[in-house]
Amino acid sequence: MNKEKIAIGSDHGGFEYKEEIKKHLVEKGYDVIDVGTFSKESCDYPVIAQNLTQKIIDNELEKGILICGTGIGMSIAANKVKGIRAALCGDTFSARATRAHNNSNVLCLGERVIGIELAFDIVDIWLSTEFEGGRHQRRIDMLQ
Ligand code: RB5
Repeated sequence: MNKEKIAIGSDHGGFEYKEEIKKHLVEKGYDVIDVGTFSKESCDYPVIAQNLTQKIIDNELEKGILICGTGIGMSIAANKVKGIRAALCGDTFSARATRAHNNSNVLCLGERVIGIELAFDIVDIWLSTEFEGGRHQRRIDMLQ
């Protein structure tokens, strides 16, 4: 069986959720590539966002999850990279819609904003929702 590869990364503000979500994804059978950080020591989220998005740009894998305190710094950093469509989600409706309409390839979460059970639901829905294409593809093409 070919496992789907998912990259995951966080700064210190998202470290605990990174560890929890990593476990959750491994239990579900994903091949999880952890790009750091590897402790709760203070670090810089743009570096982690760069490490993760580069793997998508290099076609090593298709999707990644970035976590910081709010999810905002990670989403700003990831969206600076051409070809990355990062979506900061704090609810399941947005998680579904951003896959279906934006074909988002990075999910951003805020550890200091949402509970872990909601984070698991957002991750599961985001990973299982297909892009709808059609008129949404035309709009995505305009972003390039
Ligand atoms: C770190 O304290 C915090 O600023 C960071 O995790 C993130 O929330 C930035 O957007």
